[in-house]
Amino acid sequence: MSLTPPPDQDIVIIGATGDLAKRKLLPALYNLHVGGLLPAKGKIIGCARSEVSDDQFCEMAAAAIKEFSRTGFDAAQWKTFQPRLTYVATSEGYDEVRKLCLLPDRLVYLSIPPSAFSATIDAVAAAGLVEGTRLIVEKPFGRDVESSRQLADKIHEHFEESQVLRIDHYLGKETVQNILVFRFGNSVFEKVWSRDMIEHVQFTVAESIGIEGRGAFYEETGAFRDILQNHAFQVLSLLTMEAPATFDAEAVRDEKHKVFESMRPLEACDVVRGQYTSGAVGGERVEGYLEEDGVHPESQVETFAAVRLCIDNWRWAGVPFYLRTGKRMTRQVTEATIVFRQAPVHFFRPMGVQELAPNTLTITIQPEESITFKFMAKAPGPDVEIEPVTMSFTYDSSFKQQPAEAYETLLNDAMEGDQTLFARADSVDLAWEIVQPVLDDMPPVQPYFAGTWGPRAADELILPHKWHLR
Ligand code: BG6
Repeated sequence: MSLTPPPDQDIVIIGATGDLAKRKLLPALYNLHVGGLLPAKGKIIGCARSEVSDDQFCEMAAAAIKEFSRTGFDAAQWKTFQPRLTYVATSEGYDEVRKLCLLPDRLVYLSIPPSAFSATIDAVAAAGLVEGTRLIVEKPFGRDVESSRQLADKIHEHFEESQVLRIDHYLGKETVQNILVFRFGNSVFEKVWSRDMIEHVQFTVAESIGIEGRGAFYEETGAFRDILQNHAFQVLSLLTMEAPATFDAEAVRDEKHKVFESMRPLEACDVVRGQYTSGAVGGERVEGYLEEDGVHPESQVETFAAVRLCIDNWRWAGVPFYLRTGKRMTRQVTEATIVFRQAPVHFFRPMGVQELAPNTLTITIQPEESITFKFMAKAPGPDVEIEPVTMSFTYDSSFKQQPAEAYETLLNDAMEGDQTLFARADSVDLAWEIVQPVLDDMPPVQPYFAGTWGPRAADELILPHKWHLR
């Protein structure tokens, strides 16, 4: 994220009345404005199917900012932000959008369902909005190898790869970006960051929310495609990549790509799928997935997915990686735990110690943003009693400032043309190749009660270890 405003450009949001625009994009643009990080000149052109006037669009944007903006809503800031906003219904055609774009450069954000990607990309190109455009594409980038290749071909029919920004908002999170600083900005971790010292790695993206009225979307997507194959894989690539020679976009993305090249394709036995039934989350009764609006009563779509995977390279061969994600789990938490090899217990046996818990390093991405190292210490007293203790760093207490939202960082980078935090076509393709064998042969979904950590089979998948969060 830059500290100065990006170059002048217009911003076109296609799908501007949708959920993502309301919850994330408009509040993020407003907050960039508040922080002085929008281009000095340029319109924000909303575009969608709804036939609404400029005024109605502004009202909608104001309501969205009031509800979702990180910095709240400030009337004086709004007064200077609002004149940038304008709206074109798609029925008026993209020529109208082009006429409103008065600057040679622009960002075009496709915040639309995957089924609309292809026709919209053609229409944007036919209206002459290719030169000077940077195109942001929202996930899912296809739903399997074939459809993702079709999407990539469609994009490349009109746009160079250097114009394309595939957004995975996890990469914009402050704590996710900190993984690289933590690993490569400290000399003590590099030597222990390998199969020599690491026993296994776990990564959990647990959400307590359900599908939030997105039944139709979720029925087409499922947890595997919604989070595991993209957000979880992206974080894993940062945790496991080699140090790039420089911090520029291609050097970083090349190293991430090599991780995907070394990942062993998944097999059905490496995967557990689950689906929540009714239960209680945070003391409140919630209905099961099959009772949600827009869900087929016999749906086999998973709301939970766990995988065991291997990275067959010199650094990681033999270290299992366990990733899981689910809706309606016990609580909202996203964290990676690196579990180190156990220390030999021999020295302590005469003192009655039969086992030592392994050292762990836990990187919590949300809701708290922290890093915690667990190690063994002697409990006070005449005997040698060994207890685990922790050393912790939290963003809150060390920096005392609220980090920018992922979408603010990513929109700002996109306007700067910095592709470092965006997924590259060849890596997206490889990520699909790794999961394709499972998409072709999905294991059955197993029920789990809402408010739990998922089906029991996920606990069996990780044996002889245990999930850190359970
Ligand atoms: C989105 C998924 O990509 O990420 C949602 O489509 C999910 O289903 C969301 O809820 C989670 O994002 P975050 O930032 O709240 O962890």
